[in-house]
Amino acid sequence: MSKRKIDSFENRFIVGDCEEILKDLPSKSIDLVFTSPPYANQRNYGTEESSISPDDYIKWFAPKARQIKRVLKDNGSFVLNISDKIVDGFQHLYVFELVVFLCKKIGFHLVRDYIWYNPATPPNVFSRGGYGRTKKSHEYCFWFSKTNEWTFNLDPIRKPYSKDMQKYLMGKGKGDRSQNTRPSTHNFNCEKVWTDNGGSDPGTVIELGNTSSNDIFFKLCKEKGITHPARFPEKLAEFFILSGTKEGDIVLDPFSGSGTTAVSAARNGRRWIGIDLNPDYCELATARMEIELGGEKEND
Ligand SMILES: C[S@@+](CC[C@H](N)C(=O)[O-])C[C@H]1O[C@@H](n2cnc3c(N)ncnc32)[C@H](O)[C@@H]1O
Repeated sequence: MSKRKIDSFENRFIVGDCEEILKDLPSKSIDLVFTSPPYANQRNYGTEESSISPDDYIKWFAPKARQIKRVLKDNGSFVLNISDKIVDGFQHLYVFELVVFLCKKIGFHLVRDYIWYNPATPPNVFSRGGYGRTKKSHEYCFWFSKTNEWTFNLDPIRKPYSKDMQKYLMGKGKGDRSQNTRPSTHNFNCEKVWTDNGGSDPGTVIELGNTSSNDIFFKLCKEKGITHPARFPEKLAEFFILSGTKEGDIVLDPFSGSGTTAVSAARNGRRWIGIDLNPDYCELATARMEIELGGEKEND
């Protein structure tokens, strides 16, 4: 099958089923796929296909995952944002089954599982524990690589040092840590000169509220009289775009919804491709991009 060149897809929101659109993309052309597909049984995105039973999820996702792997460059990554579902009183296992499937059957490597912790949804005054469990306050972001080598930049995602660490860096840490009595077994020896790397490793819990109810996409949806998809915060996309790609690289979101991944990619000097089944979302994502970044890209 002859494939169109990748630059004919770049910086556009393309309407269609990503499984079909991806087939037209050349192999090994994408640096990062960052996406949040419809979660099982959860939302109505104005298209029939977007409600998938958890029992059928792997069957639904498998052909898309094969295409995602094919279009990734050898040093590319696939980051999957997903959450689970309570079925018949218990948490369904489809998310974990999917991760195993992606590794064992599709051939991805699991680089790291990340937690997106949303502090706006912890147990609150409305929760009485009636479901026998706390409210869920996190989603998953699974980072997969295609091969044994993948792009990773720590510096752009470093977080500010804690006050204690700042003291150690200035040689002012207090207490004799040479006995190493900490339960964590970490030994902060005050004699040692610590290298200042400009911030600490952010670890695997990404704390971000999802408070975009007044944003541009929401307003555009209201004007058009349509509901909007479950958007993730731009900072979540940015975490993986900055750490998983270099400037000028190409980022793909095959379930692009409001275009959050694309907006973050563009803002950070990356090229981007967004695909979504719902033409309204692609139209509004294009308008959002124009408003936020002055883009002049057209809808397919
Ligand atoms: C969870 S939402 C993505 C939201 C997005 N991350 C954002 O920040 O706006 C999932 C999206 O997948 C789209 N979708 C569902 N099935 C699809 C398919 N087969 N191909 C492409 N898009 C699809 C839905 O229309 C919806 O916009």
